[in-house]
Amino acid sequence: MGFVHQAISALRIILNPSIRKSSINPQSSFNESTIVAALLSITLAACGSDGSPGPSGPSPQPPASSDTLRAAASAQGRLLGTAVQSSFLSNGQYDAVAGREFSYLTAEYEMKWNSLEPSPGADTFGAGDAIVAYAMSRGQRVKGHTLVWHGSTPSWLNSLPQAEFRNAFERHIRTVMGHYQGRIHAWDVVNEAIADDGSGLRDTVYRQKLGDTYIADAFRLARAADPQARLFYNDYGGEGMSAKAGRIYDLVSDLISKGVPIDGVGLQMHVSANNRPSDDSIAANMRRLAGLGLTIHISEMDVRIAGLPGTEQMRLDAQKAAFHDIVRVCVLEPRCEAITFWGFTDAHTWLTGDTPLLFNQQYAAKPAYTGVLDALRGK
Ligand code: G3I
Repeated sequence: MGFVHQAISALRIILNPSIRKSSINPQSSFNESTIVAALLSITLAACGSDGSPGPSGPSPQPPASSDTLRAAASAQGRLLGTAVQSSFLSNGQYDAVAGREFSYLTAEYEMKWNSLEPSPGADTFGAGDAIVAYAMSRGQRVKGHTLVWHGSTPSWLNSLPQAEFRNAFERHIRTVMGHYQGRIHAWDVVNEAIADDGSGLRDTVYRQKLGDTYIADAFRLARAADPQARLFYNDYGGEGMSAKAGRIYDLVSDLISKGVPIDGVGLQMHVSANNRPSDDSIAANMRRLAGLGLTIHISEMDVRIAGLPGTEQMRLDAQKAAFHDIVRVCVLEPRCEAITFWGFTDAHTWLTGDTPLLFNQQYAAKPAYTGVLDALRGK
């Protein structure tokens, strides 16, 4: 039983009038208010820095070494994540880093609709199950990514008439979340629904077939399918205070005002070391979202450097500074719960032709790794 449960159970005893009189020695220096204060401090210590409960799910096993990103993040009450692919987990070098440095795994593509249901009704959970099993065996949590995204729509869906489209949409969310129920810390329920210029919703097949309410529909279906999972809206280009960020804020504010169950926003953070939102702009945007009571995740971070002028060392130093400064913004925002990198080795990145991650192609830590570790340690 964790600290929080012990403290709450003890509080119930102390505050229960029928028990209270007999169980506390009036002469003791530990009078009732002292005990309550102590228990409350224990409870808060077990929660995030702002007193919000720490991430739900299995408590992570203590890492073998305290000198890891995972340990440093845990000391800050943060989850530290990476995108993974199931086929890489059997590679010794990949497994060693993925299992040691991270507490939070996201399936880079194997839990998306086109991977899970390549043909109608043909649910293929094997790869996603392998990632979840790997995470559970290492005391890591899992981010479900992503239920509704125009970038991973199965080809057979697009031609369905509206009624059949809606049936497939509802079946997908219920079936996938039902399959993973209780094993997913948070789901990216809807991904990238806002137009890049912030003018409004993208004109995706979901909007065309289901109307603008498809986003609210997805979140309501998700909450019903797995009440334990945190439900996120995830997007790129809205990390700092931009037009798109403003539109994302308006979207989630509207959802909240209508009682739609949403718990957080994922800021993808695909940035370039020399072209990115400022730290202050990211902090202001996070603060604005936190003001809605939402949890924030940096959900897909990588830092491009291929186009930077100068020497390779200068590029690596600029990358280190960008990782450090952005991670520090999250550490300083109490409601920024998790930082996930979109992969961890340059050997496997969607950004072919660049080296945007923390480890090089030979799995050696780059200066960016030290930048992240320093930021997590408050340096
Ligand atoms: O691994 C298989 C391989 O066995 C097969 O032969 C090949 C051809 O079918 O496909 C390979 O899988 C590909 C996978 O990337 C691994 O390379 C998938 O087809 C391909 O669709 C997949 O692309 C992913 C993309 O999302 C679309 O799902 C990328 O890995 C992934 O990095 C990218 O991630 C997105 C986020 O989900 C949302 N935000 C933007 C981000 C970057 O585009």
